[in-house]
Amino acid sequence: MKIQFLSLLLLLSVALPAKSQTYQPTEENMKSREEFQDSKFGIFLHWGLYSMLATGEWTMTNNNLNYKEYAKLAGGFYPSKFDAAKWVAAIKASGAKYICFTSRHHEGFSMFHTRFSDYNIVDATPFKRDIVKELADECHKQGIRLHFYYSHIDWYREDAPQGRTGRGTGRPNPNGDWSSYYQFMNNQLTELLTNYGKIGAIWFDGWWDQDQNPDFDWQLPEQYTLIHRLQPACLVGNNHHQMPNAGEDIQIFERDLPGENNAGLSGQNVSALPLETCETMNGMWGYKITDQNYKSTKTLIHYLVKAAGKNANLLMNIGPQPDGELPETALQRLAEVGEWMKTYGETIYGTRGGRIAPHAWGVTTQKGNKLYVHILDLQDKTLFLPLGDKKVKKAVSFADRRPLKAQKCEGGVTLSLPEVPTDIDKVVELEISD
Ligand code: GLC
Repeated sequence: MKIQFLSLLLLLSVALPAKSQTYQPTEENMKSREEFQDSKFGIFLHWGLYSMLATGEWTMTNNNLNYKEYAKLAGGFYPSKFDAAKWVAAIKASGAKYICFTSRHHEGFSMFHTRFSDYNIVDATPFKRDIVKELADECHKQGIRLHFYYSHIDWYREDAPQGRTGRGTGRPNPNGDWSSYYQFMNNQLTELLTNYGKIGAIWFDGWWDQDQNPDFDWQLPEQYTLIHRLQPACLVGNNHHQMPNAGEDIQIFERDLPGENNAGLSGQNVSALPLETCETMNGMWGYKITDQNYKSTKTLIHYLVKAAGKNANLLMNIGPQPDGELPETALQRLAEVGEWMKTYGETIYGTRGGRIAPHAWGVTTQKGNKLYVHILDLQDKTLFLPLGDKKVKKAVSFADRRPLKAQKCEGGVTLSLPEVPTDIDKVVELEISD
């Protein structure tokens, strides 16, 4: 029995090397996690050479484009209308508190001036401006956090080991040269965390490219240690669609709220780490000229509110155009969400998922004894709130401060509304007993 137990332990320690490693986040890191959770809303920007082909950021692999031919796009990349100050101002006005920018996506092109490859925005394009630098300077100036998306996949480099994607790009040697590629990534991460001021997070993507190759070792712990050594407050997240590994500070979900799995990428459990869900505004991450299928402002607000109710941040994506502008519809959505946030931000920022679990009618967020009931879909004037023994000391309609009736009943209270709610989100503020 004892031997069996020991061998089980041994087996577990071999099978789960990364997860069982210990990681002690620093005080700065813990503080940064809290700020991250308080901020609730960020904007994701997917921008690279792919914007020129206007068919999304996967076009290189989806169309089996030859890596040397694809690279010629760089010689024509001149986003003449790019204005970091304008981008950051529009994003800030939406109420978003951080921007996550694709420093280098799977296509392998660096949107920053790197010493470790000429295939970058300054050395390979006629534009010759370090977009990441301009964006970073503006973010710092306008007071919004900057996160970097960084791809573990590279469909361009010959030393990047080929996984299940990017196999048709014509690169020789599918095995690549891992130690050279790993060193390259760490060199670039060092640049990103040294030359652009304070960075809120590194957002990795692409781990799943090797999911059919269980022996593949991405050597994440060392990479995470490097990041935390360079900037202890910098959060590490990895869009691997798994439970977090040691060294990760946030848990990422793609296209689904934590605990839901409609898109098929989020079967993993929900951890105790700060949570973030990313979602597209239309249907694609990178710019897609034929995709005008933007979600309505109401849908976007509902997604943000539901994320907050599930204790998660929303990272909402925009794919900038090849000319350097954000699409007009995206700008409109940013402005409209911003209007809403001006009134209701207080019920979102700094909150955590409320004590009442999400229901079909909506969700709750909470700050101390204040419970915000977000009614998103209710065809009734009364609503039962399962508050158990908690007493409601005060109930008001959040926006106009009109007092509301909250009557004690079996298992909670019944809230009475003056009319069936028609707002995007009818917010009721309750003050509850300890
Ligand atoms: C997926 C895609 C990638 C995109 C990311 C955003 O992992 O591969 O193109 O950047 O999702 O969540």
